[in-house]
Amino acid sequence: MPRENVFARSTRENGIFKDEHALSPEFMPDVLPHRENQINSLVYALKPLSEGGKATHLFVYGPPGTGKTVTLNYVMEQLKEFSSRVKPVYLNCFGFNSRQSVLSELTRIVERPVPGRGMSTSELYAKVLEGLKFVQFVPVLVFDEFDQLLDHDGNELLYDILRIPERGRVQVPIVLISNDPTIPARLDGRVRSSFSHEAIEFAPYSPMQLKDILKGRAARALFPNVLSPDVMGLIAAHASKRGGDCRVAIETLRKAAHNAEKAGANEIRPEHARAAFENTETSALLKAVPFLSDAHKLVIKSLFRAGGKNVPSTELYSRLAASGMGLSDRRIRELLVELEKKKAITTITDTSGRGRTKKITVNFSESELK
Ligand SMILES: Nc1ncnc2c1ncn2[C@@H]1O[C@H](COP(=O)(O)OP(=O)(O)O)[C@@H](O)[C@H]1O
Ligand SMILES: [Mg+2]
Repeated sequence: MPRENVFARSTRENGIFKDEHALSPEFMPDVLPHRENQINSLVYALKPLSEGGKATHLFVYGPPGTGKTVTLNYVMEQLKEFSSRVKPVYLNCFGFNSRQSVLSELTRIVERPVPGRGMSTSELYAKVLEGLKFVQFVPVLVFDEFDQLLDHDGNELLYDILRIPERGRVQVPIVLISNDPTIPARLDGRVRSSFSHEAIEFAPYSPMQLKDILKGRAARALFPNVLSPDVMGLIAAHASKRGGDCRVAIETLRKAAHNAEKAGANEIRPEHARAAFENTETSALLKAVPFLSDAHKLVIKSLFRAGGKNVPSTELYSRLAASGMGLSDRRIRELLVELEKKKAITTITDTSGRGRTKKITVNFSESELK
């Protein structure tokens, strides 16, 4: 019997995925079930801008995976389409985590770009004010994962932006997004008092809601009859236990579909879903991974080399010293603090033995670091 080529077999039409992209994090669904109220509040607060009026500042909060990012992008996309007077500017603060980086991005937005680095924040701010005099639109600044910026000089940046109207220019509305509901209370007094805002809550999804959402996403991503209501319920229940996190639900569905595909099945069976439960990471920290610098990644890689769990800090330092990358102990300490803030690692201080040793654990698996 002629043997079948193993590669031909693995790419054979298998009848599971119709369009896997519909399960990817950057996919924008046509509808967002169970976010109608939040969408209405956003529209109500922002619509005046399209008529030359003033918008309300907004604070959007809720646990990871509750649709904050996707909903804001959905609404901003449509606002842009609806009105040329408004220019939504989406800033993920894992990337834009300093006043300097945000102001420099804003000079670009208001068409006064500055060449390279080396300008002080006050020079950048002056450029932004100058640019705002001439542009024909109002920028709406959306700060996603705002805590990352607040941990640095977010207060100073907000102060800059909130006093733009005093300088005779139009107001620049801001939207802060965070998992942390206490953000407004954590702002400096002078910033807090001028950040009059409306708060919009994104609560965890219930199992029923997750089922609805999965149904819609599966209809785009998978062939008909691949996902039974029972298996959908199983995945929804799993994500519900993980804090009503829709990212977990969708990621689990994607992995379960892959498991089915690998097994050569023509539908996703409960065992394919259960096998996917084991390797979905909690989603909060995975969002940070694409924003890790090369230095951060080097530290993480060394931690994985040392097993990834409860790695004594002394071992990490000696591994990094041997790597010949010239990281000083002080720099390594800084990197560890940053990684812990991004929730990429957890450190515990072990006082059980002689003296105190720090033990470091990476909060995700090595495969996520590609
Ligand atoms: N109501 C919804 N309908 C469809 N997909 C959703 C919905 N809510 C969230 N998602 C999806 O779940 C994932 C997590 O949502 P995201 O907006 O990133 O959550 P958050 O920003 O609150 O952490 C994304 O893939 C997103 O597309
Ligand atoms: Mg988000």
